[in-house]
Amino acid sequence: MRKKIVAGNWKMNLTKDESIKLVKTISTEIQNQNIKNNRIIIAPVSINLHAVLNNVGNDKRIEYASQNMHFANNGAFTGEVSASILKGIGIYITLIGHSERRVYFNEDTVLLKKKVDQALNNNIEIIFCFGEELEDRESKNQLKIVENQLKNTLFHLKDSDWKNIILAYEPVWAIGTGMTASPEQAQEMHAFIRNLVAKNYNETVAENVSILYGGSVKPTNAKEIFSKPDVDGGLIGGAALKAKDFAEIIKAIC
Ligand code: PGA
Repeated sequence: MRKKIVAGNWKMNLTKDESIKLVKTISTEIQNQNIKNNRIIIAPVSINLHAVLNNVGNDKRIEYASQNMHFANNGAFTGEVSASILKGIGIYITLIGHSERRVYFNEDTVLLKKKVDQALNNNIEIIFCFGEELEDRESKNQLKIVENQLKNTLFHLKDSDWKNIILAYEPVWAIGTGMTASPEQAQEMHAFIRNLVAKNYNETVAENVSILYGGSVKPTNAKEIFSKPDVDGGLIGGAALKAKDFAEIIKAIC
């Protein structure tokens, strides 16, 4: 049975002290919440991961992820972080393929596929982000674009690899813009994605994979979007930086 997940992507925000304080406040805000079979994941800036884990690691309901990971084991890759470096500080989840990495750091499908393989070879769970641009939707090509993104980066995987994959559909036009996909648009895409996984693998893999929606999720729209049958929670940017908002969004999956 797949899990509902709320994941916060803090992007390049918050100092070490601000990060620790925010996690502690979120933890207090949700202290009476029954998280049950759901998951809460937070991705701070990588340099702050270790400090956050060491200072707030007592709330076991919150898991931590890296925002990025390199495809090589180690070596001359200035500024990058490897799988073993992440595991060395106790991080076993990473985002891969966020649209900001694709756009600002030219990460293409060839590179993303290598990162996916490297993460899985290291038993690191992946929150794999993908989604169409506004012009793709306007020209009604969003399904084709998403199908290609998944085909080129994930559909070479084995059935058993999928237990370490969380999908995050994030239409680029909705990220940080305040323009959210309607619950119906999200459901249509999520059902399409689940169906694609079923076609390329089988019903069991498709039913077990969590598919998150990302793009301007807020306390005011989370419940409605998450109520759709194929939407298994969200990947949250801006609203993840405010404890009360993030806690409200978490309550929407509980
Ligand atoms: P947003 O970002 O919630 O600020 O739109 C989502 C994301 O980039 O994952």
